[in-house]
Amino acid sequence: EKGGYDHFMLKEIYEQPRAILDTFRGRMLSNEGIIRMAGVDDNIEKFLNANRILIVACGTSWHAGLVAEYVFENLTRIPVEVEYASEFRYRNPVITENDVVIAISQSGETADTLAAIKLAKSKGAFVFGVCNVVGSSISRETDAGAYTHAGPEIGVASTKAFTTQITVLTLIALKLAQKKGTVSTSEFHTYLSEMDAIPAKVEKTLKSDNHVKTISNIYKDATNFLYLGRGYNFPVALEGALKLKEISYIHAEGYPAAEMKHGPIALIDEQMPVVVIATRKGHYDKVVSNIQEIKSRKGKIIAVVMQGDKTIKKIADYVIEIPETLELLTPLLTTIPLQLLSYYIAVMRDCNVDQPRNLAKSVTVE
Ligand code: F6R
Repeated sequence: EKGGYDHFMLKEIYEQPRAILDTFRGRMLSNEGIIRMAGVDDNIEKFLNANRILIVACGTSWHAGLVAEYVFENLTRIPVEVEYASEFRYRNPVITENDVVIAISQSGETADTLAAIKLAKSKGAFVFGVCNVVGSSISRETDAGAYTHAGPEIGVASTKAFTTQITVLTLIALKLAQKKGTVSTSEFHTYLSEMDAIPAKVEKTLKSDNHVKTISNIYKDATNFLYLGRGYNFPVALEGALKLKEISYIHAEGYPAAEMKHGPIALIDEQMPVVVIATRKGHYDKVVSNIQEIKSRKGKIIAVVMQGDKTIKKIADYVIEIPETLELLTPLLTTIPLQLLSYYIAVMRDCNVDQPRNLAKSVTVE
């Protein structure tokens, strides 16, 4: 059942090339320049006329929502807000029939997300679901939706659900951008062909496995970790930290890189490993200076960079490379080594990777 892997989590990490492909296959016809998604096509006016898009979710799905916020606003110019479902439902939010609400949930059973959907519906909003489990409560409760085709996710820590959620949400954003004319035809085609190349690039990224294992062995006894990223990779930093906390029980925090100087820099000393996502096109110079600030305080740098990077190689303690792609698609690649890092550290600390203490796969209590 684990297909030769030691844990479901590792199996599911390795399934990502296939899961991402399954998620866009049949929907994205890159040669023809078409994205077909029934749930979006049938409700296209609702999306195009939306005053704003409000994304509600919890945990890792919320992180996928944060990536989607940047992707949607950049491509479609529709304002987007992302909220924890648990906050949204209890705070008397402003919500009208001109809002489109996107609920993201792997299990489709998360109680707070379900309650947020019911609230949004009662205010007349159009609610769209992005779920993995077919026929789940959330998929039934929403007005329309698009499934991620990740296949069953057994490991409690979410991996392939995250990357396939980002895939679905990116397809939706691209489709709307095409309709609205907020991306040019040639840009649109570039996005599609780059998306087409992602499964092979995830496969290539997975080849960092042994290198990440070596790094894991060096830092497995750390008591704290910091994760930094900017732009599309800020949510990836949050997700990397969450993965580490969940399965290895090491305290970790994710931050937008530039926020470091507003507080967390006080934590930096020779004991502190800092994972920095520094893809070349994303505010690269700024991230380089963040790394220098950390180095001058003796922090240890594990950097995730784009292939061919030379500058960061010189200053980081360890470098993990991802293949080159469009900045907007980098979260699909940068996430991979962070999943592996948390996995190996947890295994080396003898933690129960697939069933971490205190956690359940679907949180149906409030
Ligand atoms: C993280 C994790 C949780 C879930 C969260 C939402 O690895 O598994 O944070 O992401 O409980 O679950 P779903 O997506 O099923 O609504």
